[in-house]
Amino acid sequence: MVWTTVFTLLIASQAVADQVDYTQYVNPFIGSEGPIPGYAYGGGDIFVGAAVPFGVVKLGIDTQEDNLTLATINGGYTPKGLVTGVSMLHVSGTGGCPKYGIISQMPLPSVAAPVNLLDNITYWQKRVGEDVASVGWFSTELEDGIKISLTGSRHAGTMRYDFPGEEKHVLVDVSHFLPDPAGGFCTQYYLDGSIEISDDGKAYAGHGTYAGGFNFGAPYTVYFCGEFEAAPDEARTFTGLNTSRIMDGSIPQPVFSENSAAAGPNGDRVGALFSWTGLNGSVVQSKVGVSFISIEKACAFKGSEIPSWKQDDGVRAARDEWNTDVLSRIRVDTGESANMKNLILLYSSLYFMHLMPSDRTGENPLWESDEPSWDDFYCIWDTFRNTFSLSHLIQPEAYERQIRALIDIWRHQGYLPDGRSGNDNGLTQGGSNADNVLADAYIKGLRGAINWADGYAAMVKDAEVSTNGSNKEGRGALDDWLNYGYLTEASERSISRTVEYAPNDFALSQVAKGVQPEDVEKYLKRSAGWQLLWDHTVPSVNTTPTFTGFLTPKSADGMFNTTDYNPATCGVCSWPSVTYEGTPFEYSFVIPHDLQTLIEFMGGEEAFESRLDYIFKPNTSQTNLGANGLGITTIMNIGNEPDFATPYLYNYINKQWKSVNQSRALAQQFFKNAPFGVPGNSDSGALNSWLIWQMLGLYPIVTQPIYLLASPWFPDINMTVNGNRTLRVTAKGLDEDSYFVQGVKINGEQWEKNWFEHEDVMVEGGTIEFSLGKEAMVWETGEVPSSPGHLILDGSMAQ
Ligand SMILES: *[C@@H]1O[C@H](CO)[C@@H](O)[C@H](O)[C@H]1NC(C)=O
Ligand SMILES: *[C@@H]1O[C@H](CO)[C@@H](O)[C@H](O)[C@H]1NC(C)=O
Ligand SMILES: *[C@@H]1O[C@H](CO)[C@@H](O)[C@H](O)[C@H]1NC(C)=O
Ligand SMILES: *[C@@H]1O[C@H](CO)[C@@H](O)[C@H](O)[C@H]1NC(C)=O
Ligand SMILES: *[C@@H]1O[C@H](CO)[C@@H](O)[C@H](O)[C@H]1NC(C)=O
Ligand SMILES: *[C@@H]1O[C@H](CO)[C@@H](O)[C@H](O)[C@H]1NC(C)=O
Ligand SMILES: *[C@@H]1O[C@H](CO)[C@@H](O)[C@H](O)[C@H]1NC(C)=O
Ligand SMILES: *[C@@H]1O[C@H](CO)[C@@H](O)[C@H](O)[C@H]1NC(C)=O
Ligand SMILES: *[C@@H]1O[C@H](CO)[C@@H](O)[C@H](O)[C@H]1NC(C)=O
Ligand SMILES: *[C@@H]1O[C@H](CO)[C@@H](O)[C@H](O)[C@H]1NC(C)=O
Repeated sequence: MVWTTVFTLLIASQAVADQVDYTQYVNPFIGSEGPIPGYAYGGGDIFVGAAVPFGVVKLGIDTQEDNLTLATINGGYTPKGLVTGVSMLHVSGTGGCPKYGIISQMPLPSVAAPVNLLDNITYWQKRVGEDVASVGWFSTELEDGIKISLTGSRHAGTMRYDFPGEEKHVLVDVSHFLPDPAGGFCTQYYLDGSIEISDDGKAYAGHGTYAGGFNFGAPYTVYFCGEFEAAPDEARTFTGLNTSRIMDGSIPQPVFSENSAAAGPNGDRVGALFSWTGLNGSVVQSKVGVSFISIEKACAFKGSEIPSWKQDDGVRAARDEWNTDVLSRIRVDTGESANMKNLILLYSSLYFMHLMPSDRTGENPLWESDEPSWDDFYCIWDTFRNTFSLSHLIQPEAYERQIRALIDIWRHQGYLPDGRSGNDNGLTQGGSNADNVLADAYIKGLRGAINWADGYAAMVKDAEVSTNGSNKEGRGALDDWLNYGYLTEASERSISRTVEYAPNDFALSQVAKGVQPEDVEKYLKRSAGWQLLWDHTVPSVNTTPTFTGFLTPKSADGMFNTTDYNPATCGVCSWPSVTYEGTPFEYSFVIPHDLQTLIEFMGGEEAFESRLDYIFKPNTSQTNLGANGLGITTIMNIGNEPDFATPYLYNYINKQWKSVNQSRALAQQFFKNAPFGVPGNSDSGALNSWLIWQMLGLYPIVTQPIYLLASPWFPDINMTVNGNRTLRVTAKGLDEDSYFVQGVKINGEQWEKNWFEHEDVMVEGGTIEFSLGKEAMVWETGEVPSSPGHLILDGSMAQ
């Protein structure tokens, strides 16, 4: 695959004199491949195709991989999978079962036998040559000679098909979606559809209804409106047997009809076939709009968003939007002395961070509201840790609207989502982490048009109202949490969910300060519940040295269960395990609101430091995290979210240089300008935003208005914060081997602490001046970062 800057000159010539075209530094393939060349497995699961920031439409190819064990088709794109269609809606960076891959077309050079329009296996295509992509643009060539080029807008897209021969067909299969390649229980399914063709055959419209996927989502309907540049010679609709019903593998041919088809009571598959004959090598172009409301809106989007048939116009519009609304918010020197690799990592990371969630404002079919509507929070478990905190700074407007949308979901459907896609909540992997998102915004002073009384009420719902064990939303093991103050070992994920419910309740205490002061103490106290799972005597197993004191499974009657307990393992490390996608060893570091107590529990600063040092040592991992930990042999797993803040925890013992050393080493080892350029699912951009913070030399501590200082990767960074202010971060002395902090000035003042507060530079803007050098040194003499949740529960020290 190659990424192209072919449009750069074109755009540059039109751009305002001093405006840099940052899109040339975006490599849309970073994360498209895992460690096994040619396969997406273990890679970023990213979407590759045409999209605008937070766009509803992410237009790209759908593929089927040959090896089901290794098949990962969540973003539709895989490096060498067989193309089954081109579709309008995708997610980016997700794990679990695929979602979307719907509203498709497939160009075909022939529909003669063995092609069966109901059986993608009879027409799917290998690709030849290299795929080409750049911001707003994707193109590929199929083995049958058809070239596909795509560009997209917010709710619409343009497909261009260059056919090799005289015969030209475009299949529209309303029943197409991305299946779970392994046929898993959370696969999507098609429920209903209809399609109608205009009299001249040039246009078509209809709807499709789908359900399932990772979140076991309820049925949702997407309306579509398509158009071809030239009228086809023939256009027909068809219906076909619901092929999910077929057991013996023989799929009958479709039944053609003239110009309309509907699924009917049997849930038939429906579609249409458009055919042209004519000059060799000619082009078929199509525009398609989608809407969650109506065909009329889908048609209106198509007309207003894509006025031209020239794909260049679409690419230019998309690039302008990416430059203005996203990439130019962080400006570094792009001149000749710039480090090209770092430019690419920065701007590509910004790009991937803004593919999700989807701004569906005006497109909410479920309720009437003046609030904005957003979907594809997938999942907040991933993005609460630092993605939203970065949006707070560089996307204040979108961020505020996302929070209003989250609260509106609670208002109309009862709970804030942790995951949400296809207009339905689900799944919750750990805590109710939208609580953390809201608290992070609130404590940093975001008010705007957010109804915080409602926001707090939504959080209280999470904290107080049981979902009876459901993983859909809220807190699945709330009854335990309320009865015992921790999750008993009878509850799934008892340790990792305890570790998440604790900061969730800390989050409530933070918002309660302003909204409901009488609640503060209650939630602060609950936020210390993790201490009840801390067994001060349990040792690590198979480690040198031995560390003592870990989160440990505990029964309802208060007995720790240390039978065969090894904190560095977690069985399958998934839904039924003691910890989710990480070991108790890792989760034992994830107490962001009270590091002070944690350090004490681990035996003081020295013991804490040596335990931290240990998890970065190669070959210390004792568990196989599969696709969530591929190729990582340290206990520290930067490929998965729970450990995101861990490399920075040295700041809490005033050894900031070690945070720099460890976090930078991880970033350099695992993040690359290459298809296998992120360590595992990018998780809706969570891995990408982690890297951006690293490159800025900052790290946010979620639900607290503070940032830790690290070490920037660029000598001069101007970042637009709070809408129209500028934070300037400079790094004197920065070089390949010169990145340890020697001193810092904030707003011109010599800074003694290795952290600062939101107010210092993020509200009115400001400056942070780093002096960097080769020598690692303890430069900070001020107090360590605060532990605002500090509180030692009675009895938790006793054991
Ligand atoms: C699929 O990949 C796995 C893991 O690399 C390998 O063991 C297996 O043989 C492959 N199967 C096929 C059919 O290629
Ligand atoms: C392709 O066809 C197979 C067999 O009918 C089906 O299981 C799969 O879901 C289809 N894939 C796509 C992307 O439509
Ligand atoms: C069109 O191209 C095909 C394949 O290259 C060739 O066989 C055929 O003769 C061409 N037809 C015309 C009318 O040029
Ligand atoms: C298609 O068939 C499957 C298997 O019998 C069934 O579960 C599903 O509901 C059917 N779909 C429709 C739309 O009827
Ligand atoms: C940052 O802004 C300052 C002040 O406007 C300017 O002098 C400097 O060149 C800018 N640096 C970059 C990399 O844009
Ligand atoms: C949980 O169960 C209780 C009692 O049966 C019921 O009132 C409540 O609605 C249930 N909650 C949810 C979210 O299903
Ligand atoms: C204690 O842990 C062991 C090992 O995981 C497990 O087999 C056993 O069921 C647990 N005991 C209880 C009472 O849950
Ligand atoms: C880690 O283990 C691998 C495989 O056993 C070995 O080749 C490698 O040298 C080890 N690395 C270290 C740093 O011990
Ligand atoms: C710096 O980090 C690297 C990578 O984790 C590690 O090998 C090295 O020991 C660290 N240096 C110190 C002095 O901690
Ligand atoms: C920034 O925007 C705010 C709100 O729109 C406005 O009041 C303020 O004057 C602007 N400040 C600057 C420096 O442009």
